[in-house]
Formats: sequence, C-alpha cells, structure tokens
Amino acid sequence: EMPKIFVTGGAGYIGSHVVKLLGERGYEVLTYDNLSTGHEWAILYGNLVKADLGDKETLRKVFEEFKPDAVIHFAAYIVVPESVKEPLKYYRNNVINTINLLEVMREFGVKSFIFSSSAAVYGIPKEIPVPETAPLNPINPYGETKATVERILRDLSNSGTDFHYVSLRYFNVAGADPEGKIGFAYPDPTHLIIRAVKTAKGEFERLEIYGTDYSTPDGTCIRDYIHVTDLAEAHILALEYLLDGGESEILNCGYGHGYSVREVVETVKKVTGKDFPVVEAPRRPGDPPVLVAKADKIKRVLGWRPRYDDLEFIIKTAWDWECRGL
Ligand code: UFG
Repeated sequence: EMPKIFVTGGAGYIGSHVVKLLGERGYEVLTYDNLSTGHEWAILYGNLVKADLGDKETLRKVFEEFKPDAVIHFAAYIVVPESVKEPLKYYRNNVINTINLLEVMREFGVKSFIFSSSAAVYGIPKEIPVPETAPLNPINPYGETKATVERILRDLSNSGTDFHYVSLRYFNVAGADPEGKIGFAYPDPTHLIIRAVKTAKGEFERLEIYGTDYSTPDGTCIRDYIHVTDLAEAHILALEYLLDGGESEILNCGYGHGYSVREVVETVKKVTGKDFPVVEAPRRPGDPPVLVAKADKIKRVLGWRPRYDDLEFIIKTAWDWECRGL
C-alpha cells in the first residue's frame, strides 16, 4: 500500500507539478482546492475535492474518508502587491486556513506536513547567498503570512505532540513540465520569465525592466530562478524524509546562483528567437537587489540533486507551454 497524500492547492502551478510526480511514483493523491486560481485540467492524478480550507466541516469529512498519511500544503494567495492592498484577505487564507488544516490534521493524527514557504520571509537579506538561519524580516503582508505560519509550525513541533514538518522556502520558480502537460496558468502574470515569454509571443507590447540603477554588475536585480520540476522533486524527497521519521527542517529551494533581469531578457530573446521592445522603468517598491539562496542544506538533508539548473532550459519549457496548441 502506497502512502496517501493530501494536497491542498494541487490544481495550481507548483501543486500540479507535485501531483504529477506523486502520481508517477505511485502515491495515492487527493487534491483539495477551491479552484480560485487553479484548474481541474492541471490535476493529472487522483481525485479533486473542490472546497475551501475555510470550510472545516468538509475538511474533516475528507480526512475521515481519505485517511491521509501526509499533507502537502500549497493553497495560498501569492500576489505581493495585492497583499499590501488586502492584508486581511491574505492573513485569513494563508494563516487562518492553515490553522484549520493543522487542527484537522491533529484531530485525525496526521503528523507529516510539507509547507510552501517563500524567500519573501527574508525581506531584504543582509547576507547573500542567504542561509536558512537569516532572520525572518518580511517587507510585505504576503511574506508576513509565510513567516507567521513558519512560527506556528515551529511552535507546534515543539509542543510535545507528534508533529513534524518540512518548510520549503521557494526562490524564483519558473518553467513548466518538460513533457508539456502542465504549466503556469494564472491571470495577469507579473513574474519576469512568464511576462517576458508572453511578450515574445506578442501578448504584451513591451517588457519593462523595473530599475537599472541597483548595485549589481548590470544595474538590474538578480534572482535565483529554479525549474518547477526540480522544486517538485524537492517535495517528493521531503515527503519520503518525513515518512521515514525525519526531524522538522526549514530548507531553501534555489540553485545557489542567480541571473540579472537583463540576462533573463537576453536569454528569452535567444531561446524564443523573437525580438521585442524592452524599456527601462523605475524601481518596483520592495524589490531586494539580489536574492540568491544558500543552497547546500537541502542537498545535504534531502539528497536533492537538481536536473534542470539551466536558464535556457527553464525558459524553453515556459515558452513551449505558452506556445502549446499553436
Ligand atoms: N521584473 C521586471 N519586469 C517585469 C517583471 C519583473 O523587471 O515585468 C523584475 C522585478 O523587478 C525583479 C525580478 O524581475 O527584480 C523578478 O521579479 P518577479 O516578479 O519575477 O519575482 P520576485 O523576485 O519579485 O518574486 C519572487 C516570488 C514572490 C516572493 C518574492 C520574494 O515570486 O512570491 O520572490 O522576494 F515573494
């Protein structure tokens, strides 16, 4: 009997890539998703329960029937500027609904939890590459919700109950399933690689570079871009680790090196073979100049060996996904 995995947000971008790997490896999967931004077509394995984590009664019923061995929790709002305008919406969904989930896990004795955290918990880090030991110092409500849940998880795992978790702090996730079955599908994308690829495709007239006067070699911000399938693999390893009785851990998910906005834009032009207008725009508030992971801990603890640490490949899979059906 393979373990049963309860996946919240399994219809979303990262969740659907993890559900695909879980299904391929023979796990029994159930996706719990309200489809507010996810898509039923993105769930390639297992069933969907279309429901909200605010609905604790439904959550309980599903736990009673499915009897999960572990929970992977992706469901959350993720748009930083929206979180500034609507903090309560973010705290309710990302924090209160996570508490609901943790309470129901406790009621049913489910003790293994994998959490989607974010490099946003670091804010503007002093140390680069940023280690997991750097202080939590988020600079927007989105990052605050992730830091708050991390504190809750820490306290819960120290409370004497049998609960253990892995918190994965994602850096800049990009690209799509190399087999082309799933990919990013979110209205009004703001992320650089998606934006640039859609501009190459002609969906936007031009790409804006937000800030060219940063203290970096070419003046634009540097990020640690990680392929979504490598990130998905990290979840599988974290799951196996917890099911084998591993201790709670907080792990950065990045490659440990970065690219500037200009380098990304040039690589998008090269990979797609399309030229498009690029304009220099003012800085976007809240952007740290450099955000690169110290990436050795996840390799040591989980034995994670990324396969797609290649910006051209990341962009190629994003481009192929955008062009599907053409
Ligand atoms: N950028 C542009 N033009 C665009 C889009 C982005 O110049 O059209 C720049 C941004 O200013 C930034 C870089 O490209 O310097 C990357 O921006 P993204 O929006 O792709 O990603 P962020 O680094 O802002 O965000 C990521 C995650 C967030 C997380 C944050 C932590 O997507 O969820 O890191 O700092 F909160």
